[in-house]
Amino acid sequence: MKVCIINGSPRRNGNTAELLKPFRERLLQLGAEIDDIFLKDYKVRPCLGCYACQNISGEYGCVQKDDAEAVWMRAGEADLLVLATPIYSWYCTAEMKALMDRHYGLNKYYGNAQGQLIPKLSVALLTTHGYKDEYANEPFETGIRRLCKHCHWDYLGRYSVRDIDGISDMQTEEAMDGARRFADELLQKFEAGC
Ligand SMILES: Cc1cc2nc3c(=O)[nH]c(=O)nc-3n(C[C@H](O)[C@H](O)[C@H](O)COP(=O)(O)O)c2cc1C
Repeated sequence: MKVCIINGSPRRNGNTAELLKPFRERLLQLGAEIDDIFLKDYKVRPCLGCYACQNISGEYGCVQKDDAEAVWMRAGEADLLVLATPIYSWYCTAEMKALMDRHYGLNKYYGNAQGQLIPKLSVALLTTHGYKDEYANEPFETGIRRLCKHCHWDYLGRYSVRDIDGISDMQTEEAMDGARRFADELLQKFEAGC
């Protein structure tokens, strides 16, 4: 099973990266192949809203020649896409939001073109946040559920840990066990056909 993990935090060694450690370790133990993308290493500009991509069939078709297409194509090669992000202003970081908006070229719904470049994908979320779980995560999780529905992708679930004192919150047995259990759960769901 191929897993693509996109970390949208601007902090390479931040809380989200720390929480990913036991999660990744468990996935590897379970035999997964992992493609890691630290999003800040790539140039993904915000969508221009020009809809040019909607009139170009069979390819991404975006007028902006940056890394968005390559990142999405790597995600599309995976069986499971894990969007890992700190919650920023009740959503994901700006880096990840730009990538989410740039999904437009994948789905030709609004112009002369037709078809989907990534017709099948399973998506899961791993987040870190300062506020209490549900209050912090509900808007982003709702957005991603709806995005998955829009793209005809499967949404598999979320694992989140609250940052109160920084990185040590990600290193508790509870946080790390939860990350490992989440990896188990995702693989089970995937093997059961989601
Ligand atoms: C600009 C900014 C906005 C934030 N907005 C929220 C928020 O809306 N809700 C929340 O629960 N935490 C918020 N936080 C806290 C972060 O989500 C939290 O500290 C997270 O663990 C940081 O992860 P990182 O170290 O991987 O970047 C915010 C932090 C920053 C810097």
